[in-house]
Amino acid sequence: MLQGKTIVLGVTGGIAAYKAAALCSKLKQEGAEVHVIMTSSATQFISELTFQTLSRQNVYTDTFDERDASVVSHIHLADHADLVLIAPATANVIAKMAHGLADDMLTTTVLATMAPILVAPAMNVHMYAHPAVQQNMDVLRQRGVMFIEPEEGLLACGYTGKGRMAEPEHIVEHVKQWCATAKEQAVSEVALPSKLGHDAELQPGLGGGEELLSGRTVLVTAGGTLERIDPVRYITNDSSGKMGFAVADAARSMGAKVILIAGQTQVAPPEGMEVIAVESTQDMFDAVTSQYDNADIVIMTAAVADYRPVNRATQKLKKTGEKLIIELERNPDILEELGKRKMHQFLVGFAAETEHVEQYAIDKLRRKRLDLIVANDVSRSDAGFRSDNNEVLIYEEQGLVERIPLMAKTGIAKRLLHIVAERLPAGSGQRMLTAEEVRSLE
Ligand code: CTP
Repeated sequence: MLQGKTIVLGVTGGIAAYKAAALCSKLKQEGAEVHVIMTSSATQFISELTFQTLSRQNVYTDTFDERDASVVSHIHLADHADLVLIAPATANVIAKMAHGLADDMLTTTVLATMAPILVAPAMNVHMYAHPAVQQNMDVLRQRGVMFIEPEEGLLACGYTGKGRMAEPEHIVEHVKQWCATAKEQAVSEVALPSKLGHDAELQPGLGGGEELLSGRTVLVTAGGTLERIDPVRYITNDSSGKMGFAVADAARSMGAKVILIAGQTQVAPPEGMEVIAVESTQDMFDAVTSQYDNADIVIMTAAVADYRPVNRATQKLKKTGEKLIIELERNPDILEELGKRKMHQFLVGFAAETEHVEQYAIDKLRRKRLDLIVANDVSRSDAGFRSDNNEVLIYEEQGLVERIPLMAKTGIAKRLLHIVAERLPAGSGQRMLTAEEVRSLE
């Protein structure tokens, strides 16, 4: 699975460094070329010789120990890595990475690399929960660094809680998953244009995929809807709009005409598309249904309020008794209605769940007659609402299409649109008619 992949394994100074030996060995068994960089603290826990023997490569500990005069070691490693994996990662190395410090072989390599970075933290439960550590991790996530969460259990320091480095097998699974996703993306970028019947050759250097959605109209909803109680009070939800904006931007960069319908959001919408601002679920329903005939693909990332107050006070409500009961009534289910009216459109829903993620997601897909559903677990703090990252499972009627590991929402959006594009043709060599073509037949 990892044949031909070069992995730089950074080992830092925590007791879990001993587990990095098993990790190194498993990566090697999967076919990867593993180059280990140890911090000097890591060498207090485990010897260089262990990694040298397991990896069959020189182990790096000192930036100035240049053994090969023809290269600068940290740049050479940084340039040749397909992935930089840091396991275990201490609070200290995470802080240094967040601040861009480069005072040893590992942090200089990390700063110099363009490769994806995957980090497996390991530390005491209180250290892991410390706001400084969490903030540093958030900063890194925003830069696209991926994390494998530590596990809960008995820690070497005697505490029980979250902080144990993920087991080597689990980390290897993550690496393989990342590798499969990257490979599939590369394949679909090269293969899809011809599948879709596009004449245009892929231009080298563009990374492919730019024109996969050309000629298509993509309708994207983003953010949360808001239901007013009175002129100054309302009910809404935590949606930031980031996922929907990432999808809209990715669709635009893949050549689609994008219509973005945005509710409440916490960031500015992307440029280069028509943006329709809405407030309530009914507003979103009206906007989406009025654009539906023009759309080839509809991606409903919006977190839609299922209920609205029965009465909306025209004046600010005054305090009265000890209790205030606000009666709510059902809003229309936009996606369910789109499912009922579906003609040529390809429908994608999102399912934010806190439990039974797969079961609830597939139920929604069937109930709303969707082509794909993207499920995420919003009970996690490092993904989902407000975060720049997400980890999602994409399902179709027959079951799981793909699990996308924790990554930036922009990356998830691109991958999702590739999966959509792959499914647009009705059969081999055919493609779905665009809305304009359907109209021209009428
Ligand atoms: N959705 C919608 N209209 C609604 C509610 C949800 O279009 N009134 C869409 C969302 O945009 C999302 C999908 O349906 O793409 C699933 O949303 P979710 O809130 O997870 O599901 P619900 O259908 O509301 O189901 P439940 O409340 O039972 O979880």
